[in-house]
Formats: sequence, structure tokens, C-alpha cells
Amino acid sequence: MDNLPFSQACENNKAAILEAIAPRLLAVDEVLEIGSGTGQHACYFAENLPGLLWQPTELDENRNVLQPRLQEYGGNNLRSAISLDVCQHPWPLAIPQAVFTANTLHIMPFEAVQSLFTYLGEASEVGTLLLVYGPFNYEGRYTSESNASFDDWLRARDARSAIRDFEQVDALARSAGYALVEDRAMPANNRLLLWQRLV
Ligand SMILES: C[S@@+](CC[C@H](N)C(=O)[O-])C[C@H]1O[C@@H](n2cnc3c(N)ncnc32)[C@H](O)[C@@H]1O
Repeated sequence: MDNLPFSQACENNKAAILEAIAPRLLAVDEVLEIGSGTGQHACYFAENLPGLLWQPTELDENRNVLQPRLQEYGGNNLRSAISLDVCQHPWPLAIPQAVFTANTLHIMPFEAVQSLFTYLGEASEVGTLLLVYGPFNYEGRYTSESNASFDDWLRARDARSAIRDFEQVDALARSAGYALVEDRAMPANNRLLLWQRLV
């Protein structure tokens, strides 16, 4: 065992996410990841997508969770972690051609979700891809019993966390100039949402 911070969920979902995002990133040189957590996704995607540069980021207070695994990575297409809180504008780096985030929108307060899209609207270029993985509700309904239980657990842990409504997030994306390209069902009642900035 390597004793690095570990998420079983990441191990379970990383192959399916890679399969979904790889074809979308063929023309992309660099990906900015928001809320990289343990770094398992960053390392796995960098290893399996050697043609692109992966930039992991985290809240400053959680960077110590992320950095150790990144340091173990053997390749040269994974950058060191940068501190990034989506609410603090401007972000400390330019937004590249693609932004990826997994399991973050239901953790951060809704104001932070709004702040993320506001900044994308201000600072990203036309053509930028936004790939978001996680659970979503549709028309105010859970997509499964397990997501309903998960939402109860999230809200009990932090009243500002909650599974977001797809329609509400899509409206934020549209306000930022992004159009939905794909809403893909993923294992364990998750979704992979892909938007692209068109205006
Ligand atoms: C459940 S973890 C997901 C981590 C990883 N992406 C994964 O799939 O395992 C949620 C992450 O969102 C990050 N986060 C919460 N609020 C944030 C904010 N305002 N800006 C950036 N990241 C934030 C947390 O630090 C945490 O690492």
C-alpha cells in the first residue's frame, strides 16, 4: 500500500469517465481540473491521455491531500497542483481549451456554482469545453433512491451542499455562453455533462 489519500469512488468511476471524455479531448492540448481531490483522476487521465497536459487544482486548504499523489506520477504531462477556489476571481491561471470537474457541484455551495459559471462567462474563450461529472436531479426529481439518500447525507453533513438540478446548472451555463453538447448517463446514477462555449 502506498498510503496516499484514496477515494474508492474514483477507482470505481475513472475508467468510465475516461471512456466518455477521451473522444471529446482529441483536439485539446490542456485541461484544467477543478477540485481534484486525491489526484486519482488527474493521474489516471494524464497517464491515459498522454497527448494533453493536465492541470489539477484544489482549495488551498486541501492541496496537501492532492499533491502527494501528483508527486508520484512518472510522466511529464501533469502539472503541480494550483490553489483554486472558484469563488475567488480572477482565477490564478488562464482557462485552457477544456475544464473538467468531478463530484464538486453538489459539494460546493450553490453560490460557488454560480461563481464558477460567472467566471467562465467572463474569462473563457469561445470553443472552450466544460465537462462535469456527478449526480444531478431532473425536473426536481432524484434519478434513483440511492441519490435521494446521498442527498440527505450531503445536506446533513453541510446544509449548503446538495445534488443540483440539471436545469438550473444548464441555465447558468447558457448565461455564460455555453451550450449543452451531451448529457450522458454514467454508472451509479451519475451523469457526464458536456458544454461548449459558443458565444
Ligand atoms: C467530493 S470532492 C471530489 C474530489 C474529486 N474531484 C473526486 O471526484 O473524487 C469535492 C471537491 O470539491 C472541492 N471544492 C469545494 N468547494 C470548492 C470551491 N469553492 N472551489 C474549488 N473546489 C472546491 C473540495 O475541496 C473537494 O476536493
